[in-house]
Amino acid sequence: MTGKMEYLTFFNGHKMPILGLGTAQTLGDDVEKVIDAALEIGYRHIDTAQRYNNEAQIGRALKKWLDSGKIKREDLFIVTKLPLTGNRAECVEKHLKQSLHDLQLDYVDLYLVHNPVGFYDVDPKDNGKKMVPDMNTDHVSLWKAMEAQVDAGRTQSIGLSNFNSRQVKRIWQSARIKPANLQVELHVYFQQSQLRAFCRALDVTICAYIPLGSPGARPPGLTANTVNASKQPKRDQLTNPVVSQIAQKYGKTNAQVLLRYIIQLGVAAIPKSTNPDRLHQNFDVFDFELSPEDMDMLERLDKGPAGRQVRGYIPGMENHPEYPYSERY
Ligand SMILES: NC(=O)c1ccc[n+]([C@@H]2O[C@H](COP(=O)([O-])OP(=O)(O)OC[C@H]3O[C@@H](n4cnc5c(N)ncnc54)[C@H](OP(=O)(O)O)[C@@H]3O)[C@@H](O)[C@H]2O)c1
Repeated sequence: MTGKMEYLTFFNGHKMPILGLGTAQTLGDDVEKVIDAALEIGYRHIDTAQRYNNEAQIGRALKKWLDSGKIKREDLFIVTKLPLTGNRAECVEKHLKQSLHDLQLDYVDLYLVHNPVGFYDVDPKDNGKKMVPDMNTDHVSLWKAMEAQVDAGRTQSIGLSNFNSRQVKRIWQSARIKPANLQVELHVYFQQSQLRAFCRALDVTICAYIPLGSPGARPPGLTANTVNASKQPKRDQLTNPVVSQIAQKYGKTNAQVLLRYIIQLGVAAIPKSTNPDRLHQNFDVFDFELSPEDMDMLERLDKGPAGRQVRGYIPGMENHPEYPYSERY
């Protein structure tokens, strides 16, 4: 890589590498290979979740690197998430301990509540395959249990994912330890300008998921927007002519322009790839800077709420009192 990694600084002084590796749908034998390749390239920020079913494989790869002395724990920034079936105060410690066990770590850098909507596991052995909504999700008591994990040293910072501004505000107001980061969908077609301004005012950093627009095949549940297929938002960010024109000008790929745009908005990005060339490419975004004019052209690609892809993909979610996606931001 040419150019230097940039960081977001949390209110508590901890620093998150602004470019990380997404690992949803990285499964099986791929996981250790991808983590090996990514660490070799220089990735230090890795995003996972109990829901992704890959923490144990990630843990094996990390242990190998840590034991070899090629990397120090303090150089890594590991993020994982409380599953939706753990959205009750009494479940938090158990789930984080399980993640730490699987990741073979003493602590994670950031622990996120994956989604504001809570569920119950129908069968605790099927890893969340069958679940029913828990209509009594209480964010304030849940957050107290998240704070207790910082006190216990199991995580350095805590944060939220998929919460809307009203939900973030409620936690922020009641918090003894503030949320350090909010992980949400954010890409050139869904730029979340209001949410970004809102979070900036609270000193809550943002991490963009599906930063390339998630162009690949997805499991059926993840694409279901609960609207009919013809109304699905476009996922052609990577072939958009404006992005191509800008990419040509800088001698970069479209993916690099999309990632650089997010970084210059002051937002972290966690592109996923299992392909060695694309892993390299996505990391090589620190040796150029988009001009203000090019930033303006990319800003104009925003489709607002119509560009949102993820609306809740679990049956029963949209009827939950804490369903987050019906509000504008
Ligand atoms: N908090 C949440 O609720 C939530 C929800 C969704 C996602 N996430 C996080 O966000 C991460 C990223 O999301 P995502 O994987 O859906 O979307 P994404 O990173 O926008 O896109 C990944 C897709 O793009 C392809 N790709 C990667 N780099 C490329 C490049 N340089 N050029 C062309 N294609 C490229 C990948 O294929 P190859 O692998 O073949 O390269 C893959 O199909 C996830 O892995 C997860 O960690 C969080």
